[in-house]
Amino acid sequence: MQRYVPAPGLENKAAFIDGLIARMTLDEKIGQLRLISIGPEMTKARIYDEIAAGRIGATFNTVTSAENRPLQEAAALRSRLRIPVTFAYDIVHGHRTIFPIGLGLASSWDMEVVRQSARVAAAEAAADGIDMTFAPMVDISRDPRWGRMSEGFGEDPFLVSEIARASVRGLQGDSLAAPDSIMAVAKHFALYGAVEGGRDYNTVDMSPMRMYNDYLPPYRAAIEAGAGGVMVALNSINGVPATSNTWLLRDLLRGQWGFKGLTVSDHGAITELMQHGVAGDPREAARLAVEAGVDLSMADSIYLEQLPQLVRSGTVREQTLDAAVREVLGTKYDLGLFHDPFRRIGDAARDPADADAEERLHRAEARAVARESMVLLENRNGALPLRKGARIALVGPLADAPIDIMGSWSASGKFKHSVTLLQGMREAVAAQGGQLRHARGANATDDARIVEYLNFMNWDMPEVVQDQRPAEAMIAEAVEAARQSDAVVAAVGETRGMSHESSSRTSLEIPASQRALLAALKATGKPLVLVLMNGRPLALGWERDNADAILETWYTGTEGGHAISDVLFGDVNPAGKLPITFPRSVGQIPQYYNHLRIGRPFTEGQPGNYTSQYFEEPNGPLYPFGYGRSYTDFSVSDVALSADTLERGGTLSASVAVKNTGQRAGATVVQLYIEDPAASVARPVKELKGFRKLMLQPGEEQVVRFAVGEEQLRFFNARLEQVAEPGRFNVQIGLDSRDVKQRSFELR
Ligand code: BGC
Repeated sequence: MQRYVPAPGLENKAAFIDGLIARMTLDEKIGQLRLISIGPEMTKARIYDEIAAGRIGATFNTVTSAENRPLQEAAALRSRLRIPVTFAYDIVHGHRTIFPIGLGLASSWDMEVVRQSARVAAAEAAADGIDMTFAPMVDISRDPRWGRMSEGFGEDPFLVSEIARASVRGLQGDSLAAPDSIMAVAKHFALYGAVEGGRDYNTVDMSPMRMYNDYLPPYRAAIEAGAGGVMVALNSINGVPATSNTWLLRDLLRGQWGFKGLTVSDHGAITELMQHGVAGDPREAARLAVEAGVDLSMADSIYLEQLPQLVRSGTVREQTLDAAVREVLGTKYDLGLFHDPFRRIGDAARDPADADAEERLHRAEARAVARESMVLLENRNGALPLRKGARIALVGPLADAPIDIMGSWSASGKFKHSVTLLQGMREAVAAQGGQLRHARGANATDDARIVEYLNFMNWDMPEVVQDQRPAEAMIAEAVEAARQSDAVVAAVGETRGMSHESSSRTSLEIPASQRALLAALKATGKPLVLVLMNGRPLALGWERDNADAILETWYTGTEGGHAISDVLFGDVNPAGKLPITFPRSVGQIPQYYNHLRIGRPFTEGQPGNYTSQYFEEPNGPLYPFGYGRSYTDFSVSDVALSADTLERGGTLSASVAVKNTGQRAGATVVQLYIEDPAASVARPVKELKGFRKLMLQPGEEQVVRFAVGEEQLRFFNARLEQVAEPGRFNVQIGLDSRDVKQRSFELR
């Protein structure tokens, strides 16, 4: 086989790329802007030819070196200019080893955990010849109806920004060119999480102040951490689709933020400009997108077909095209592909005999991360931890659900590798000499239409398989198991497809079939422990009132069953905190902690009309942002400030003493919130500005200090200037966003 010989002049990136562009034909340039999905879009044989002809610049959805090698050979050894192709894939929470979903990672409030999970994912993906991922997904969302909230990290700009940075660092490592690094493409730029009504792909209408203060910071954080790319969102923003949004992609992203990397359209989004109603035909759609600054066109041939004529006729300037090509080539350069296009693919001799082999997984890392990702919502009467050696009934449609436990977007994860809760508890119980009885108890839903919807895209094998027994028989079996046990663990919630792209819900309740099971279990009088698996906040009023303990596990991934068992039996003390508010009902949406002050706020305990409330249920969330219990108890002292005034450019320190007042070692997250009670515009009632996770032994006390400076006080005002306005500020510190201690200081 021919060998790749690096071209001369590689030392100087800009000169090298300019030199290459000068030698490219118009068609070769346009080919570089085409990102195609391998599989449904094109047959393999045709792909090799297209790549060799310089008509494809990047591909996605191939997941082994053996698959990628011949594609790269077609590009780097056979195409006229030997320009390597890049391989992309959606590695959102793990590649072969599946880590907890975004909401679970965010619940850890531990940036080392986030970074570590991204690092492992990158190394696994790079070992399969993959160069870039469409992640992290950093869309802020305040609407749990939206199914894609599961991929993201919650509702808070500060927390999501921190996670965005940690993810990018983990994915890209110290150098993008390293053979075990992959490039991060942060998505979906912008505001995708704010689709109206939580209905996927819907429009977004938002004030500039809200954008700048709340929704844009995480994208910017990802970029500042060095993310090589940005994926453009499918939605429109104030009437202009992101894909044709010159303000968004040129003025803001490249202009104000100085972004130098690659922009990628979302799947078919350029063609969808016609559906949006801003382009009359494909020609106009292609022109709008390239002029707005969309470099790579995903999963269509619209650039390929339209750009030649648009550029030849002078409608699109060749410089515009060249700028996009420069970004694509720049990415390939940074990924080290011009130096060695096979740096991630490696030699065939090194290919694993079985890409799915067990020894390629990182189970210990996945278990450690999953243990940090769960949130204990309730624990009454010492229901948890379960007594070792106890007789336990494990029931529920998610107790033995190897596909669901991986969560959506599970990349190359294989369900045969998943440890289900049943497996995890069986092992634990066997080791302790207890007893475990298992009964499914209910289907995830009995609604045939929903099952059909969830299975629509699963061509090879349906994900949701119904137990055909009558519901009553399944419940009876579960109740019998409960009667013979000391405690019941019910694994309930959503199948993973219910919290997925295109899976928006109008209700946040646990589906009726499962609720009926829970009601029957409750009637047995046995301690009832709920293990929730779901990808969005659920409305858990009934569950809160009726269960003895509730553990929110989201979707914990490959090692989920072990990690959940570790928590249930008390080998691990849960320390996760909610990265998102849990509303009481769907009618309360949007319900988020950092809402603006208003003129007629509702005040708890003060009855009266004409304040802002819903009159049929208590105001406020069921579980607030930042909330999560532990098997131990903590106390927090009053806030101490190092000074009552803050001079410009200076800092003061705000501290509390946190003590473990219980009997077990445990970790908690101390949270710093700031309120600006009188500003030039209405400001949030509080905003997270810092947090610290700490582990305390029983009786141990630690002082936690936060530095507060102008940085923490700044916001975008009505003119979109970033300012810290003089006056009084409230510092609030607590172990969740609701229960805080407060002190004030003045900024001069
Ligand atoms: C999703 C993106 C994803 C892309 C490629 C789209 O449907 O919106 O998040 O990266 O597909 O798989």
